[in-house]
Amino acid sequence: MGKNSLPETDVPGGPHVPVLLEEVLSALSPVAGCRIVDGTFGAGGYSRALLEAGATVVGIDRDPSVAPHVEAIKADFPDRFSFVPGTFSELDVLVAGHGPVDAVVLDIGVSSMQLDQAERGFSFMRDGPLDMRMSRDGTSAADLVNDLDAEDLANLLYAYGEERKSRRIAQFIVAARQTAPIETTLELARIIERAIGRKPGDAHPATRTFQALRIAVNGEFDQLVEGLFAAERLLPEGGRLAVVSFHSLEDRIVKRFFDPDKGGPAASRHLPQVEAAPRRWQRAGKAIKSGPAELARNPRARSAVLRSGIRTGDAARPVDYSGLGVPQIRGAA
Ligand SMILES: C[S@@+](CC[C@H](N)C(=O)[O-])C[C@H]1O[C@@H](n2cnc3c(N)ncnc32)[C@H](O)[C@@H]1O
Repeated sequence: MGKNSLPETDVPGGPHVPVLLEEVLSALSPVAGCRIVDGTFGAGGYSRALLEAGATVVGIDRDPSVAPHVEAIKADFPDRFSFVPGTFSELDVLVAGHGPVDAVVLDIGVSSMQLDQAERGFSFMRDGPLDMRMSRDGTSAADLVNDLDAEDLANLLYAYGEERKSRRIAQFIVAARQTAPIETTLELARIIERAIGRKPGDAHPATRTFQALRIAVNGEFDQLVEGLFAAERLLPEGGRLAVVSFHSLEDRIVKRFFDPDKGGPAASRHLPQVEAAPRRWQRAGKAIKSGPAELARNPRARSAVLRSGIRTGDAARPVDYSGLGVPQIRGAA
């Protein structure tokens, strides 16, 4: 298992255990009467804790399967919880009409439910259709694996999975699908294993390929960038944003968004050097990771990184990808 991706465990089922919960609560500092948008509702672990602290919560999730968790929380907090289906890339639009918002939290990536349910196709450890669509619509992982040519497939695996053996994997995939389309997670995992082998003690050889396909299928980098800027537009001065990410490619985007001096959009080369660029976030950017107690309880916390910031009064930036380090697929338009 690479240190930068979500660890897959072979513990099936079980509810999603919220990651870095205490740290997220401390970053958001919920108080009675404040309104918080949970842009990645999942099993509602963060939402429930925020509600218990007295906040009003608007949950958002793109996965229709979260419905039972939404109902459970609505039953417990009928007056202070509401849910809007959709993607957090447009969270400001989705929550318009719900009143002023004091904080936003994003816990990006897949939930344990998504990973553990074989039929969702996220896991190379459980046999299921090669799907990976959080929203359950659009292009699936099987579509990409069966339709992209070898070069585009290799470029995707390299850019989104940092897979150094991307070309060899792509060649094996293209050869295998000449007999019949690749339809299941284990079929793909076996092809990758044949292509690049498997060393005892190392991460499963399919880890990076599955990560890359999932990011592509769900447009995860675009979602993240758009969601960060949507939160910047939405939050007033003093508003808080907390983001938990699960691999280094995402964390780099979050870090640079909060701290443009690290290469982000406001570090304009057109400004005179003496003039500091306006800052949209203060007390921002520090990476917080799980401590030993949480790691012992929850192996999936291993690669989680929390970054948070407090909104200044400076006007929100237009969406700007430059300087955020968003991986680009070679040859893609
Ligand atoms: C890691 S889980 C969140 C778990 C949650 N914090 C909890 O404590 O139960 C991520 C959730 O975010 C959702 N999600 C991921 N990307 C999304 C997006 N762009 N827009 C809306 N929901 C998204 C997934 O469907 C999943 O349910």
